[in-house]
Amino acid sequence: MPSEDLKELLQLNNMVYKMNVGSMTTLKKIPCQQQNHCISFCTTYDAHDPLLLAGVMPFVDALEVTPDSIAIYKNGQTRLHPEIINSLEAAASQKSIVAHGVGLSIGSFEGYSEAYLELLEELMKLVPLKWHSEHLGYTTIDGMALNTMLAVPRTDEMLEILIQRIQSIMKRIELPFLLENIVHLIPDYEPSYSDAEFLNILVDETGCELILDLYNIECDAINYQFDIDHFLETLNLDAVKEIHLAGGVQHKGFQLDIHSGTVANSTLELANTVIPKCPNLEIITYEILPQAIARYGREMVIDELARLRTKLPINNESESLSTKH
Ligand SMILES: [Fe+2]
Repeated sequence: MPSEDLKELLQLNNMVYKMNVGSMTTLKKIPCQQQNHCISFCTTYDAHDPLLLAGVMPFVDALEVTPDSIAIYKNGQTRLHPEIINSLEAAASQKSIVAHGVGLSIGSFEGYSEAYLELLEELMKLVPLKWHSEHLGYTTIDGMALNTMLAVPRTDEMLEILIQRIQSIMKRIELPFLLENIVHLIPDYEPSYSDAEFLNILVDETGCELILDLYNIECDAINYQFDIDHFLETLNLDAVKEIHLAGGVQHKGFQLDIHSGTVANSTLELANTVIPKCPNLEIITYEILPQAIARYGREMVIDELARLRTKLPINNESESLSTKH
């Protein structure tokens, strides 16, 4: 890739990452006789927007919240936004809440972010969480923010570091811990394992589980001819507890990992192929940035949630739907 293009791409991705960080759902329990009775529908909620929350509540069973996106800096301390916490506490009586971090930076050589874990622990004390999750990547080098997220090198050394860290986090945070596949923004360091092999080893060695982000692998397929079929044939799909869906845009032929729109038909087709192969799947999450909501309006999100519910094999007996407006 020419260096000018790479520079522009990195700048663009910095912007996308900042939007994700700056922004960033329990089913009524129904007996799981068929897989689709077990799958909940979820969306991002990281804003203090009571109208948005009221609009999405009838269409989802769960809400995804990013602790670092709902944090504010006040009096020398980073704390969770009290009004967002108030609305999440109210929502938690009807919906599951899952925490989805962006700032743990589990793959940084110098170590992961203690500040992120403290925010997560604060959130856990205030709102019951179904599980917590992070991206398999890193956002800092030597403590300096990259303002983007990069994929970890898939080597034995990195495996050793990650296994110890995942075990340590799982011991400290007594919730299921899920790791998510991220996009490959820049070419990989010479890998010893494929993406799927690497994730499978982490699952086998630690007992962590997986978020499978289908939009991310579509980005990689468009940008790097990533072999989606081989990835899905190799990945331990028994470990997939959550699937992410999103819609983004292209810039100069590069598909951006930006959650800015509706889910493409290709992503939905992929989802409907993969979902029956994931026997332990519990949540499908539609991710959308607050900036996109500000641009396209709350109705876009609500309409998309309603549309996706009809296009996916998710639990349509959720009590929440009986209050559909
Ligand atoms: Fe995702």
